[in-house]
Amino acid sequence: MQFSHVALGAVCVSFLFMQGQPGGDPQFDRGRALFDKPFSLVEGLGAPEMNADSCRGCHHDPGIGGAGALELNVSRFGNDNGGLGPFTNVPGGQGLSKLFPPSVHGREEYPTGVAGADVFEQRQTPSVIGHGAIDQIPAAVIVANEDVNDANGDGIFGVARRLIVASNMEIGRFGWKAQVPRLADFVNDAMFGELGLTTPDNGRGFAGLDDADNVADPEVTQAQVDDIAHFMAMLPPPPRGGSIDPKVTEGLKTFHSIGCAKCHTPSLSSPTGPVPLFSNLLLHNVMPVGFRGMSEPGADAGFFRTPPLWGIKGTAPYMHDGRAEDLRGAIMAHFSEAEAVRVNYENLKTSEQDALILFLEDL
Ligand code: HEC
Ligand code: HEC
Repeated sequence: MQFSHVALGAVCVSFLFMQGQPGGDPQFDRGRALFDKPFSLVEGLGAPEMNADSCRGCHHDPGIGGAGALELNVSRFGNDNGGLGPFTNVPGGQGLSKLFPPSVHGREEYPTGVAGADVFEQRQTPSVIGHGAIDQIPAAVIVANEDVNDANGDGIFGVARRLIVASNMEIGRFGWKAQVPRLADFVNDAMFGELGLTTPDNGRGFAGLDDADNVADPEVTQAQVDDIAHFMAMLPPPPRGGSIDPKVTEGLKTFHSIGCAKCHTPSLSSPTGPVPLFSNLLLHNVMPVGFRGMSEPGADAGFFRTPPLWGIKGTAPYMHDGRAEDLRGAIMAHFSEAEAVRVNYENLKTSEQDALILFLEDL
């Protein structure tokens, strides 16, 4: 135990060092401190319920801004008429907070028997490292890879998430269902949804404007929102492992030949250069037939955004709800649109499967 503890410490230290801005960037430092900061009740934390007291409380693996463990999953809920549909939101929306004021019995557990809800969906904390580069990818680049009618007949579709923001159509790129278009929008969204903190109204509809506590709104200033957005935007993409093992090169070839790259697009272009994220940022259904989950306009139950695979080695568990413990489990959890590709993987020789995993671990 002692050894793994030491090793983990070393990883964190080098990771934090890497995230430093040697050139000096006060806004980055302020944003990082705010991302790390445990907010308190007198500052308006909770509405009154919440999921955690800081951004870092969930996003910390393998360093600040990273992913979160299974027990930090957040929950969504709704009603899908026993699986028969149609899906409807229950009053109050899909978000379900897990922390309640001390006066509430069982306040660290999700309430059972939420009125009218019969379907629940867990959401795993994804890493936000490298998301500044994803923010730079033009909407047209994402839309160009759509295959709404499966024109090439490979069983794989791919639809961009279209959102109406301040009366304009924008393309979603963040969140498991690509429900948020810009990185800065997610600061407002998470401040309210995860921490129960209100932020100023910027007219884009992602800020929580008022809540049930007695602290004056907005509880967080626009400057603070901007600082956190800047911190996240400046986090460089996770560095490639850079292994020279020939098996890694073999794994890359397999990644293409069996069809993983049809959704996990190695790179998308942006004005600041290619973004090697291994995602097309499009919605696909890779859930098993009969999957029940959250439905939103433009993203039915079972449709999730292809997740980026850079830095994937350090962000277990995997899939939107953390259903897969490791990378092999994640591949085996691909169905529906990815059925044929998963079968291709199953038909590989063990040594070829191993090479594919080595390649993924090098991303
Ligand atoms: C309780 C745990 C928790 C806390 C606290 C939290 N997050 Fe998250 N974060 C999540 C989860 C879960 C998701 C995925 C949500 C979804 O798509 O439904 C997410 C998604 C994100 C994303 C999008 C990532 C992607 O891959 O597209 C960003 C950006 C983000 N969070 C930023 C923040 C910021 C900023 C804060 C603090 C204001 C914060 N989060 C606080 C759990 C948390
Ligand atoms: C049809 C599109 C599609 C294909 C083909 C596909 N994937 Fe995925 N992949 C997805 C989607 C969508 C998810 C997210 C599903 C979820 O969250 O439940 C995902 C999730 C993953 C994850 C988990 C990521 C995370 O952050 O949790 C890994 C790893 C992965 N895929 C690797 C692969 C590999 C390797 C292949 C080839 C064997 C492959 N995928 C083929 C669309 C695809």
